[in-house]
Amino acid sequence: MKNPYQSYPAKITKIVLDAPETRAFTFRFQDAKRQAAFKFIPGQFLMAGLPGIGEIPVGINSPTYQKKFLQITVRGVGRVSKAIQHKTVGSILWVRGPYGNGWPMEKIKKKNLVVIAGGLGIIPLKPLIDEASHSDWGKKIQVQVFYGSRNFENLLFEPQYKRWNKFYRTQIILDTASGRWRGEVGRITDLLDKNQLPHDAIVTACGPPIMYKFLTPKLLEKGFKAEDIYLSLERKMYCAIGVCEHCAIGDKYVCKDGPIFSLAEINQMPKAF
Ligand SMILES: Cc1cc2nc3c(=O)[nH]c(=O)nc-3n(C[C@H](O)[C@H](O)[C@H](O)COP(=O)(O)OP(=O)(O)OC[C@H]3O[C@@H](n4cnc5c(N)ncnc54)[C@H](O)[C@@H]3O)c2cc1C
Ligand code: FES
Repeated sequence: MKNPYQSYPAKITKIVLDAPETRAFTFRFQDAKRQAAFKFIPGQFLMAGLPGIGEIPVGINSPTYQKKFLQITVRGVGRVSKAIQHKTVGSILWVRGPYGNGWPMEKIKKKNLVVIAGGLGIIPLKPLIDEASHSDWGKKIQVQVFYGSRNFENLLFEPQYKRWNKFYRTQIILDTASGRWRGEVGRITDLLDKNQLPHDAIVTACGPPIMYKFLTPKLLEKGFKAEDIYLSLERKMYCAIGVCEHCAIGDKYVCKDGPIFSLAEINQMPKAF
């Protein structure tokens, strides 16, 4: 019988320190066939682990059309994530997945798109932004990206912004101005007030619970429907396949039914954020 927790060795080919304690790891499955066949939906996640230490859920940030490698970005906050931080090029990560539902791509392709990221929340949104800028459907819709970060040092994927801006407006706001920042300072909700938002749009958002607390009433006030607002939720996870119940919120499993839920669904879930 197939082991549902089976993970596979993947060799790290590149590591970039993208923000304090936050590194982007590029890797390839050692089995070339597995690498070539790997498919995922933007917003899905992997379980990345080290033998004898443990495994953690991490979003995939490489583009869906990139077949040669995968990329994750890990912030060292605890036991496993800090151990991954110490790995070097050539080290092996043990990886399983992809897991979760991903962003509602069929719905997104038929409407306009507003992408809202706070902090590390940009990670699962990056493959969506990449796909929108790389595909025919992305050219047919209006896309707007808003990204809020604590400070300049914590901004992720900075080299990508120029490319994203060629396709659609990417607006960034920092909690506090620092470094060489000359742009907006304030909260992400300030950007929503300052900008004309596309009509008939799907909102895809990922960020900390505090961001959702302020963001969701603002989006409803702006006329977006709860069914069209999608948020990615975070919970501690072990199995990632709906067995251990660690990630349960009411009768939903964040790992299997989510991590992405519409606000309409979230409104039926107890204390989702
Ligand atoms: C679907 C999903 C995608 C994620 N994607 C990324 C990603 O792309 N990059 C990234 O750096 N992190 C991501 N995370 C968070 C990451 O999984 C946690 O930081 C990690 O599990 C912490 O484990 P640890 O052993 O390093 O820390 P631990 O020693 O277990 O804990 C350190 C601290 O973090 C808290 N914590 C642990 N897990 C979580 C969690 N899931 N949510 C909130 N707090 C937690 C603990 O309560 C503790 O306070 C994601 C989480 C989920 C659920
Ligand atoms: S992590 Fe085990 S049920 Fe979700």
